[in-house]
Amino acid sequence: MCGIIGITGSEDTAAGLLEGLALLEYRGYDSAGIAVVEPSNKIFRLRAAEQGGSLYHLGNGLPKEKTARLKYAAGIGHTRWATHGAPTVSNAHPHVDCQSTLAVVHNGIIENHNRLARDLKERGHHFASETDTEVIAHLLEEQIAGGKSVKDAVISLLTVLRGAFALALVHKDFPDTIYAARRTSPLIIGSEAGVGLLASDVAAVLERTRNLFELGDDQAAEIRPGAFRVYDHLGVEMQPKAINVGWSTEAARKGGFPDYMSKEIHEQPRAVAETILGRLEPSGETRLEELDIDDGRLAAVERVLLVACGSSYHAALAGRHAMEAWAKIPAEVDIASEMRYRSMQIPKNTLVVAISQSGETTDTYHAMRQARSQEVMTVAVTNVVGSLMTRETDGVLYTRAGPEIGVASTKCHVAQLALLQCLALRVADLKGTLSVAEKSAVAEEILSLPSLIERTLLGQEQFRKVAERYAEARDFYYLGRRLGFPVALEGALKLKELAYVRAEAYPAGEMKHGPISLIEPGSVVVVVAKRSSLWEKIMANVEEMRARGATVIAVADEGDEETAALVDDVLETPPVTEVCSPVIGVLPLQVFAYTVAKAKGHDVDRPRNLAKVVTVE
Ligand code: AGP
Repeated sequence: MCGIIGITGSEDTAAGLLEGLALLEYRGYDSAGIAVVEPSNKIFRLRAAEQGGSLYHLGNGLPKEKTARLKYAAGIGHTRWATHGAPTVSNAHPHVDCQSTLAVVHNGIIENHNRLARDLKERGHHFASETDTEVIAHLLEEQIAGGKSVKDAVISLLTVLRGAFALALVHKDFPDTIYAARRTSPLIIGSEAGVGLLASDVAAVLERTRNLFELGDDQAAEIRPGAFRVYDHLGVEMQPKAINVGWSTEAARKGGFPDYMSKEIHEQPRAVAETILGRLEPSGETRLEELDIDDGRLAAVERVLLVACGSSYHAALAGRHAMEAWAKIPAEVDIASEMRYRSMQIPKNTLVVAISQSGETTDTYHAMRQARSQEVMTVAVTNVVGSLMTRETDGVLYTRAGPEIGVASTKCHVAQLALLQCLALRVADLKGTLSVAEKSAVAEEILSLPSLIERTLLGQEQFRKVAERYAEARDFYYLGRRLGFPVALEGALKLKELAYVRAEAYPAGEMKHGPISLIEPGSVVVVVAKRSSLWEKIMANVEEMRARGATVIAVADEGDEETAALVDDVLETPPVTEVCSPVIGVLPLQVFAYTVAKAKGHDVDRPRNLAKVVTVE
């Protein structure tokens, strides 16, 4: 889950690397570093390891005269989220070989690094870090010393290394060339006006070019100013696939907000509007053309299995209800990290929907692959064009939320909810399980979500005021029933990851089976109490909490005085049908968690111990 950037042929190589790394920080940020080939055929390397400040220190450590000398040279940069070895300067990338002839950055995990390192050490190599990455530098050193060209040595890594990797390197004798190779972890090549670019993520290079290409699995590349060549593992030259990215560069910036999270909360109406755009008509007609799965196959689906992690898992829990209510077929949900290790026989005619904002979460990717190995149909729901999961699935549905930089998912989560509703309606449409009037009512509701989100967010000030009153509370319990439960889970996750406060989420009816013994004066219960057929039951659960001294905050419908009279504080949201309610219900809880985190002085975009893209188990 690290970020990689490479630039060659640019008059601002060093500054460009720092700029690219700043755009990649959301992929990991415990340390960062760059390496550039100096005109004197030496590797210039600079690294820093300060939680939240690595790039700042990197920039400060780069003298102006050095920046001038590094013009047009080939350089690579890396922002790290530690997997092997502590986040220290010596473990920060780039890593060099014994003689500093080359420098390597790497994203992923080299599974056979222990054996490789042991052999290399026996042959006299000196290791300076605890990382798995360093074996790459020493392996290359040996291959090149043995007479291979740098390019051929890099290609040979595709056979030697096991695991997932995206790697880039520069060599002191080739001041204008970046070499790269990848398996599983993505790499993007860009080429523009005499400049060559490489990145783990389009966001890092979008401001410089839209002439982008995907480096394929088990491929290597040589990137020079304005030109590049791609090879397979046998050294045969390949034609790379062009990538079409519709995002604006502005979409990747903070846009005037104090942090990415508030910008992304604000962007939610548009994220949902763009996600449903062209996909459904007020009549209930649905079009999911890019799904690229034959209507007949989709109509024959008899059950759905949704798999995901974190916020995407919560979206799956809500999506299941839409599938059951509209398409009237059984829908199960599994946590990807659990599903991938179960001996699960997935019945034929199951549609497996793998949901991942990044499209690169290892567990979700492998759960999806496990399903594919059983020859069931898979659909990836993701926000990242060309991401790993999109390349190994039968169908893809993109949430069109634009890049989500804040580590805590907000706009992508609501876009996932809306997109899963479109998918459920599509299956219902093909199966003919809804009447014309029902179809149209559902479509109208989904189409109204962007304006309902906008209306809900007008209440942000009130949500903030309520949250400020609870900023010092120690224990939170989030309760919901049926579609309120995924909302409770998501609200609790937001509070945990941003405010570092204990927050448990339960189906409200489950409290009396144990957790209620935790409730005491001072406990804060956040209950999702929007009007539904279960409203009375949930309010009975609220009474049970209040009777034990809890303070209760309810996510309730606007103007619902009956609910307001039964609780201590209300987060008001517009009424909406139950199936669509998670999209609206989650919004005040995002603002609530954001406010408590800010009151505690936390960095909401980069919560501690987390990374945006989880590419390790
Ligand atoms: C959300 O706020 C979290 N940061 C996290 O739970 C996230 O949803 C999870 O890691 C899954 O990521 P994905 O959607 O990219 O697969």
